[in-house]
Amino acid sequence: MSTMPAWPAAAKRALAAGFQWLELHFAHGYLAQSFFSPIANQRTDQYGGSAENRGRFLLETMQAVREVWPEHLPLTARFGVVEYDGYDDSFYPEAVALVRKMRDGGLDLIDASIGFSTISGKTPWGPGFFVPVAGRVKQDTQMPVAASWCIDNPKMAEQAVAEGRMDLVLIARAHLANPHYAYQIAVELGEEKPAGVLPVSYGYWLSRYRGPGKGVAQ
Ligand SMILES: Cc1cc2nc3c(=O)[nH]c(=O)nc-3n(C[C@H](O)[C@H](O)[C@H](O)COP(=O)(O)O)c2cc1C
Repeated sequence: MSTMPAWPAAAKRALAAGFQWLELHFAHGYLAQSFFSPIANQRTDQYGGSAENRGRFLLETMQAVREVWPEHLPLTARFGVVEYDGYDDSFYPEAVALVRKMRDGGLDLIDASIGFSTISGKTPWGPGFFVPVAGRVKQDTQMPVAASWCIDNPKMAEQAVAEGRMDLVLIARAHLANPHYAYQIAVELGEEKPAGVLPVSYGYWLSRYRGPGKGVAQ
């Protein structure tokens, strides 16, 4: 089996469409993660068995995409480094070893996440529960790390970056719940020009607004 040509073909289409950042979805029980999972992957060829074999599909795919994705544009991957199924003591080191290989092959950032490859996973949901895992990945790979999962408190997000546990905090549901979340965070964190996080035209108008009944600054 050779790496699926569909991945680099998709990367080329993304480039032609104007995307400037490509993230490979190697996580959450989807195809690539299921190759890496010792539970999902029951193959007996060179793509199954040892950690090296289970990682082969991901590494080859990443390399094939890197070849067509310009060097100056970021190529990142989302990948589950833990399963919370009781076997992370052996799974995590294998996962991190693969991340190091991807880093050496030109991956610019790892978006660390959960494998979700087994129904016996017991994720310890709660505010910021994944921050320590991200910090461990950062320490073990010495490369740029991003992560998400219940980091919707701006102070917690800022602390995670300040402590060097991750380089980028990804926030999903808080943005669904509140479309003005980016602006609200900027205000809460004391940004000098909070409207600067918005598209220029919105920011321009919002920065002139003085609140209900107070009109706009001239
Ligand atoms: C409606 C919805 C759809 C999602 N779809 C995907 C997806 O397709 N791929 C993915 O990697 N994560 C997906 N996620 C997970 C988010 O990327 C994110 O990791 C998760 O919501 C945790 O971050 P949060 O606590 O800030 O929401 C989805 C989340 C939501 C709420």
